[in-house]
Amino acid sequence: MSSTHDAGGASSPASLRELLPVPGRVDVDPAEAYAYPPVSDRPWVRANMVASADGGAIGPSGRSRDLSSAPDRRIMGVLRGLCDVVVVGAATARQEGYRPVRPREVWERLRAGRPATPRIAVVTRSLELDDALLETAPEDARTIVFTVSDAPIERLERVSAHADVVIVDDVSVRPAHIVRALAERGLYRVLTEGGPHLLGEFVAAGLLDELCLTTSPRLLGVGSPRIVAAPPPAAGEAGHLSQENVPLRLAHLLENEGNLFARYVRE
Ligand SMILES: NC(=O)c1ccc[n+]([C@@H]2O[C@H](COP(=O)([O-])OP(=O)(O)OC[C@H]3O[C@@H](n4cnc5c(N)ncnc54)[C@H](OP(=O)(O)O)[C@@H]3O)[C@@H](O)[C@H]2O)c1
Repeated sequence: MSSTHDAGGASSPASLRELLPVPGRVDVDPAEAYAYPPVSDRPWVRANMVASADGGAIGPSGRSRDLSSAPDRRIMGVLRGLCDVVVVGAATARQEGYRPVRPREVWERLRAGRPATPRIAVVTRSLELDDALLETAPEDARTIVFTVSDAPIERLERVSAHADVVIVDDVSVRPAHIVRALAERGLYRVLTEGGPHLLGEFVAAGLLDELCLTTSPRLLGVGSPRIVAAPPPAAGEAGHLSQENVPLRLAHLLENEGNLFARYVRE
């Protein structure tokens, strides 16, 4: 990690301070702190989520922006710069107004030898997607749409005209379908930005390798959902609330402006 060791020093407002594993480092370089492990024979699936101190994931605005902050957006930008593809549930894409990722000058080094931006992959049954998400992506980073075989046919034609569509012959797009199809496209560094329903499916499938969790210093109360939610039952499927007990290793804990940035890796 390229950072300055300063056990007693106070961090500047813009600097990331390491609390663990080396307490006291300041000006931690997030690109190094969050580097993906070397590419292996299957994608590495990382999630990036933000929660309040009392575990809420959605603020009064109905978006996660109530929880976000300049340091959180900085980390989010670096995580996007590092990944090959951002996987997101359609409700998050609609609610948060997802568009193709815009290139950033600071990503040049991070993305050397790769397209200037990661692709967005959106998971949907309804195919209710904003035109801009499909139509404004650059040719080398076209949006990928994962859907099911009984998706509305008239929407499928429109979506297929602008995006790469992966149709899964099942009642539901499973995380295993997503991971396999991304690997077939050479997209190994996967970043999912949720939302809670999609993340819950990755956890239940045992396919989440890493959780990057920002804890924002605020309380949202009992009305706010958590960062994972039960998947709504698809037609022909019984809904179930899965319970897991998966051990994680805390790879690092960083701090800036009272926000905690934990990187948990599956043991
Ligand atoms: N705190 C955070 O870090 C964070 C991060 C992301 C989002 N959020 C918030 O979370 C909320 C949205 O999240 P959410 O959990 O409600 O929804 P979500 O997981 O973003 O998306 C759910 C939608 O994705 C599609 N989908 C999910 N699983 C599918 C499957 N197996 N097969 C086919 N399609 C599937 C369906 O789309 P269709 O409806 O199109 O069929 C479903 O309605 C927003 O308020 C957002 O602001 C918070």
